Amino acid sequence: MATSLVSGGSRGLGLAVVERLLARGDSVATFSRSGSEALAALAAKHPGRLLIESLDAADASALRGFVERAAAAFGSIDHCIANAAIAHEGVLATATDAEIDAMLAVNLRGSIVLVREAVRQMLVKAEQPSVTLVSSIVASHGSPGLAVYAATKAGLEGFARSLARELGPRGIRVNAVAPGFLETDLSASLSADNRSRIIRRTPLGRLGLPADVVGAIDFLSSPRAAFITGQVLTIDGGAS
Ligand SMILES: NC(=O)c1ccc[n+]([C@@H]2O[C@H](COP(=O)([O-])OP(=O)(O)OC[C@H]3O[C@@H](n4cnc5c(N)ncnc54)[C@H](OP(=O)(O)O)[C@@H]3O)[C@@H](O)[C@H]2O)c1
Repeated sequence: MATSLVSGGSRGLGLAVVERLLARGDSVATFSRSGSEALAALAAKHPGRLLIESLDAADASALRGFVERAAAAFGSIDHCIANAAIAHEGVLATATDAEIDAMLAVNLRGSIVLVREAVRQMLVKAEQPSVTLVSSIVASHGSPGLAVYAATKAGLEGFARSLARELGPRGIRVNAVAPGFLETDLSASLSADNRSRIIRRTPLGRLGLPADVVGAIDFLSSPRAAFITGQVLTIDGGAS
């Protein structure tokens, strides 16, 4: 049975990924700053297969401890899904140092440190290991008001491509998914105008749902994707 790490599993896309990976039989370890009833319900439904911790992705030593405890609890780390992220929307000229630092610390540094710790475990013991990073379509296409967030996601895509080359010879695959706008808390502040504009230019005619992205993450972190690495998979209803 595989073990998967998922950051930011309390809600939104991360919660949907945790649910899918549990359903396919994985043991899952996840964290966020606060818990959620939905996550607690999944733990009750899958006794002994879901480890939930409360920690801040900006804290590197907390991430190290989390990965070590997950490996001790389940015996190995086979898949790592770096999903946790924050977005402070606003034009760059008004962005504060604290907002810039927080996005870099959580989205970019937090993901890199989590993956480093997971890879250290994978190099010791893992079954067909993989890393999947959650990027965003704004990394390649841009969006006004999201320049810093986009920079963190573009950073993750570069990280994925280089790491795939570095770890391919060790049998560890590294990919990213780049969703378009999804119906989650993160996009709740989207104005009605922006929302209709995005829907108008999306051939499939709607915003994405976490369920639209989960299938791709399930696939990329499975033996079905055994010869796929260094890729960024866009999931945006054809908008880009
Ligand atoms: N929603 C979209 O339109 C969209 C589009 C493209 C890509 N994405 C990407 O998809 C991923 C999931 O987004 P989402 O929409 O599901 O977001 P969400 O609903 O806001 O959920 C984010 C998750 O990350 C956790 N998190 C945030 N900051 C954290 C921190 N400092 N430490 C630990 N956990 C933290 C949150 O829990 P706590 O707040 O309790 O910590 C929550 O579990 C992100 O990487 C996002 O960039 C989203």
